Amino acid sequence: MSRPDFLSSYREQLGRLLESEGVASAMELIVGGRFAETGILEKDCLIHLGLEPPHTLVDIGCGSGRLPLQLRHYLTGRFIGTDILPEALDYARKICGRPDWKFIPCSDCVIPCADGSADVVTFFSVFTHLLDEDIFRYLREARRVVRPSGKVVFSFLDFDCDAHWDCFEKTVADRNPNRVLNKFLTKHTARRLARGAGFIVDVIYDGSEKWIPAIGDQDISNSLPPTPLFEFGQSVAVLRPFPEARYLTQYPDVAACVVNGGFISGAHHYDVCGFREGRTA
Ligand SMILES: C[S@@+](CC[C@H](N)C(=O)[O-])C[C@H]1O[C@@H](n2cnc3c(N)ncnc32)[C@H](O)[C@@H]1O
Repeated sequence: MSRPDFLSSYREQLGRLLESEGVASAMELIVGGRFAETGILEKDCLIHLGLEPPHTLVDIGCGSGRLPLQLRHYLTGRFIGTDILPEALDYARKICGRPDWKFIPCSDCVIPCADGSADVVTFFSVFTHLLDEDIFRYLREARRVVRPSGKVVFSFLDFDCDAHWDCFEKTVADRNPNRVLNKFLTKHTARRLARGAGFIVDVIYDGSEKWIPAIGDQDISNSLPPTPLFEFGQSVAVLRPFPEARYLTQYPDVAACVVNGGFISGAHHYDVCGFREGRTA
């Protein structure tokens, strides 16, 4: 069975956009457009979830720089962005103006970072274009590079979110064999993949839920109405690494279940019943 050629479909789309729109518009459209609005939402979402200025952020599939552009004055720490499109990375490097940040071309669901080196790993609108196996490969890599106190954040198209059905219908109607893949998950599948890769799911926000506070140049004086909340559009999963070794040492009965094949891992046990049994992870 042949695998979809992701790179060639993206290249074809970028080529078409460059020809018809010119560089700046093509670079905004190749990541979905709404360059400033979406970048600000992504930035506010991460700050709300705990991204701090000195942190190390790894942004997989960063494209032409929608997110890092908005973070260039906030994040004093390290930024590593990867993508399959080197042209998009060159553009991102140029608009961010941060010579200390790294933009690295990648092709194989590998994250070019050391073990336990990232405070936050993000995949915004990336799992929306990958096969389940590649999503899982990337999640395992994210588990390797995230610090024990860190977080992994990914957005996804969600069969459980009614607002995403229209996009699915459009995908069904599109018969172009070389189109960019649109991939949908359910919340259950997102949890399953995360758990299998060794994470605890802190929360999954539905695509239509308003949960992101506008952060930025806000006057937070009490005389103003409360900060409005915004929806992200795609559903967003927030994960933290499961402390596998500690859990299995703390609960020998669980360790025995894992060895005997009753559970695939301590993370699996915790997600299925451990948290209900009052066990701590
Ligand atoms: C919809 S865009 C989102 C870009 C960026 N994350 C953002 O939110 O602005 C999807 C990006 O994922 C990249 N991409 C697709 N497959 C990838 C893969 N296997 N590894 C890394 N990036 C990938 C594409 O080139 C594209 O830039």
